[in-house]
Amino acid sequence: MLKGKHIILGITGSIAAYKSAVLCRLLVGAGAEVKVVMTPLAKQFITPLTMATLSKNPILVDFFNPENGEWNSHVKLGLWADCYLIAPATANTLAKMATGVADNLLLTTYLSARCPVAVAPAMDLDMYAHRATQRNLARLRENGVNIIAPAAGELASGLVGNGRMAEPQDIVEAVAALLAEKKKPTLEGKHFLVTAGATIEAIDPVRYISNHSSGKMGYAVAEELTSRGARVTLISGRTALDTPKGVERVDVLSAEDMYQACVVRFDEADGAVMCAAVADYTPQSVAQEKIKKGEGDMAIALKRTRDIAAELGQRKGQRILVGFAMETQNEQANAEDKLRRKNFDFIVLNSLRVEGAGFRGDTNVVSLIDAAERKDLPLMSKREVAKHIVDKIEEKL
Ligand code: C5P
Repeated sequence: MLKGKHIILGITGSIAAYKSAVLCRLLVGAGAEVKVVMTPLAKQFITPLTMATLSKNPILVDFFNPENGEWNSHVKLGLWADCYLIAPATANTLAKMATGVADNLLLTTYLSARCPVAVAPAMDLDMYAHRATQRNLARLRENGVNIIAPAAGELASGLVGNGRMAEPQDIVEAVAALLAEKKKPTLEGKHFLVTAGATIEAIDPVRYISNHSSGKMGYAVAEELTSRGARVTLISGRTALDTPKGVERVDVLSAEDMYQACVVRFDEADGAVMCAAVADYTPQSVAQEKIKKGEGDMAIALKRTRDIAAELGQRKGQRILVGFAMETQNEQANAEDKLRRKNFDFIVLNSLRVEGAGFRGDTNVVSLIDAAERKDLPLMSKREVAKHIVDKIEEKL
């Protein structure tokens, strides 16, 4: 799998850098060409001589060679690579990557790299568990960086816990899987609508009814479809997310706006993935002025919104239609009922009862259900869930 692949191995200043020697040997042994980039501090943990010998290439640390002024081009390096693997990755380097700091060659190379990037964090358990580190990892994950999770075990500090860099063999396997995943543009020429995020139903000029949807699942699906060559129109309710590269985004507010935006575009699409959390009810009328509070209680009369998925289900013909179900009870029966009623090809069931699933997080626990079978997937990132969903779309096509 790694034969002939170009891999940049980035090494940062962690005691786990001693394992980078074994890692480099395994990568070279598997047929990869490896170039090593080190941070200045990493040289204190493992010598450039060791890494140069094992990688069969000179080590890169500085932006230029002070002896002859020769420039180490991070841009060229970034373009050369099929994969950029940073192992070990310290909390410091992860933080800098998450914020775009570029004060050494390893980091400028990260910002220039167009290839998949993987990091294998290594640090003490408290540093790893710290909210700052976890926030940085979440942001990196959002930016498409693959995190090779550290293992639990004895740490250099003598403490025992999570933070030990993954074993070199496991890292090699993760990199091989990552490169194998670089899918061909299997969906080239196809056009998908993806709905995402929360709708907003105005009560008066300042108040509204909405929900906790972050839009992360839908955005991940849009990103995955695009990475396989599909054209994607993302009909987005409220989210705080950036538009994924290459995706056409149409912003809407209410369920009715989303309905209109979807219906006019569905005819010339090959399918739709309905990830949005659409309001089922909206105020019967929107007050023109801010509603004044009175002495007693008040009630807002609501009317049903139109079901976008069901409408597309009616019109779908040969198109693929994928729905989501978020259930708190009788989940299987409700999901199956929805599958039939809305004419979905399959439905993604996420249970709110499972930890790590649901609205705001970066992970999800889902089952893919079609007329023939139910497939339960373990806890994984929303990006990974999106891959499974798009794999199933490809099967159905
Ligand atoms: O019926 P329920 O809201 O549970 O169905 C969820 C599925 O239907 C999701 O895929 C959601 O995006 C979609 N839906 C829709 N329009 C609505 C309500 C739900 O597209 N008005």
